[in-house]
Amino acid sequence: MPAPNLPATMHTPAYVLDEASLKRNLETAARLKRETGIKVLLATKAWAMPAAFPLMRETIDGTTASGEYEARLGREEFGKEVHVYAPAYGPGEVERLAGIADHIYFNSPGQLAKYIGTAKAAGRKVGVRVNPGYSMATLGGALYDPCAAGSRFGTTKQECARIAWGEVDILHAHALCEAREEGSTGLIQHVAENFADEIRQVKAVNFGGGHFINRPGYNLEPLIMALQEFKRAFDVEVILEPGAGLVVNAGWLVATVLDLHWNEKDIAILDTSASTHMPDVLEVPYTPVIVGAKKPGELAHTYVLGGKTCMTGDVIGEYSFAERLKVGDRLIFTDMMQYSFVKNTTFNGTPLPDLSILRENGTYEVIRSYGYEEFRRRLG
Ligand SMILES: Cc1ncc(COP(=O)(O)O)c(C=O)c1O
Repeated sequence: MPAPNLPATMHTPAYVLDEASLKRNLETAARLKRETGIKVLLATKAWAMPAAFPLMRETIDGTTASGEYEARLGREEFGKEVHVYAPAYGPGEVERLAGIADHIYFNSPGQLAKYIGTAKAAGRKVGVRVNPGYSMATLGGALYDPCAAGSRFGTTKQECARIAWGEVDILHAHALCEAREEGSTGLIQHVAENFADEIRQVKAVNFGGGHFINRPGYNLEPLIMALQEFKRAFDVEVILEPGAGLVVNAGWLVATVLDLHWNEKDIAILDTSASTHMPDVLEVPYTPVIVGAKKPGELAHTYVLGGKTCMTGDVIGEYSFAERLKVGDRLIFTDMMQYSFVKNTTFNGTPLPDLSILRENGTYEVIRSYGYEEFRRRLG
């Protein structure tokens, strides 16, 4: 993989969007839409860079949010359709969302019953997330499988009987993570076979995210055929809401070597960190690719790359390089748009907790609470 032509004087660490790669990824979405007539939304939980939204607006039909802050971001910064789903809504959230989002999805018969009146009174479309019981997550096992045993996501087929589907506009079935085409097509077929009665009562079906359409080797043809067949069978609008699949391999995290150290192995300490700047490296876990580096031992000089934080486990991985590393060397981590900076801001737009002190005299003092402005400010 060739090194991108970045300015020598750039400040690090930096997340850098590669505009050309994003445009290439958008072409895949454009083809999918052209050949199937579906809608494609951006899941802002995976990536939200308002400065780049103008590049997407022509192709992408809108955004899908995980709560109030992301919905507001989609409304104010993207400016097309706004969809929102959360496993449960907090007090007043649906009332506020009814003023922001076009489509509000509910996780359970209970949430639907509680809020359908509010959503409908505001003229919003209502969706219900089902748990299709389809496990094909290809990343991280049960940790990333919305249909893992005991999952809190979506209404199971059994519980679907408690829902008045005639009042519901959209059936939502998100079950994938970094799926190849067989995952995408398998989900579509599974939902068609198992939820036909429900689908016949709604106007649209949303097959969620996790369709890794821009992953090298993802074959779009079977997905196009499955979507065409589904639309023929049910004559409903179809929506996909990928996040990662739109920004895979569309940018980097650029870091600098701060020090070289030795403890049984060569260690390089960087001005970045797995726990603060690439949390998925520890959570999934996985070892990100670095331009010019290989697996340990494959090239002449092997190093453990460690972060700048105090956490012992803040280790990015072990890599080998053709030349000895020097202080000041720049390292370029690839595929660092998806689930990177959105995670070290306020993932899913989840508001930050207040900072407070319980004083000795019993008074409770809020030192600082953080609102939408803090979330928005951190996205640039
Ligand atoms: C409901 C829903 N939609 C869409 C997505 C986006 O998935 P991805 O970024 O894997 O495409 C997610 C990811 O967790 C999700 O939970």
